[in-house]
Amino acid sequence: MIHRRPLGKPWQEELRLEDGRVLWLRPICPADAEPLRIGFSLLTPEEVRMRFLRPLTSLSEAMARKLTHIDPRTQFALVAAEPEPPGKALVGAVVRAAIEPGTRRAEFAILVTRFLAHQGLGTLLMRRMLHWARLKQLEAVHGDVLQENTAMLHLAQQLGFRRLPSDEPGLVRIEKRLRD
Ligand SMILES: CC(C)(COP(=O)(O)OP(=O)(O)OC[C@H]1O[C@@H](n2cnc3c(N)ncnc32)[C@H](O)[C@@H]1OP(=O)(O)O)[C@@H](O)C(=O)NCCC(=O)NCCS
Repeated sequence: MIHRRPLGKPWQEELRLEDGRVLWLRPICPADAEPLRIGFSLLTPEEVRMRFLRPLTSLSEAMARKLTHIDPRTQFALVAAEPEPPGKALVGAVVRAAIEPGTRRAEFAILVTRFLAHQGLGTLLMRRMLHWARLKQLEAVHGDVLQENTAMLHLAQQLGFRRLPSDEPGLVRIEKRLRD
């Protein structure tokens, strides 16, 4: 059970996890680029492969910049970070989604680092992302997941995602329809 407390405006929430850890849940911002690069270097190769679907060895400055400069018209990204100002705070979890141009669909991705996992944070972040997608009146959200990623497949199933075949070997596409 995660305890949540609003922190006022601009929108931000304090989260208290079962292990006592306190995090701030807030939109990603440009100042998170460097902490994201540092955080990336702390990930295991397995975490990187599950999230990026390929073995990346580092997060380039250009990539970190892209991941932290969000166009709110078509993109969404929330972080759960240390309770420090952006730029100082290490980022422990991110959920993001982007509307595919010309469609009413978005692709999502999520990462909860192993230090914070198994406490319901993944579920909370996915729910927030789905809430955003509904506000945007999207028809569906989808993501590509490695076949062996039982954690994500389990989490997605609990949230009502269905599995679709993927064109790429080793991947499963998971999709949640938001409207009939
Ligand atoms: C998948 C991931 C987001 C789950 O985050 P989390 O914070 O641990 O998720 P939760 O605590 O909300 O758990 C949700 C459900 O998944 C289950 N789960 C979590 N880790 C699991 C694991 N390793 N194996 C099986 N089930 C697992 C939990 O048991 C829980 O189910 P329950 O409610 O029946 O107990 C996290 O492990 C992660 O970021 N993995 C690496 C990146 C990734 O795989 N991204 C997905 C592709 S974009």
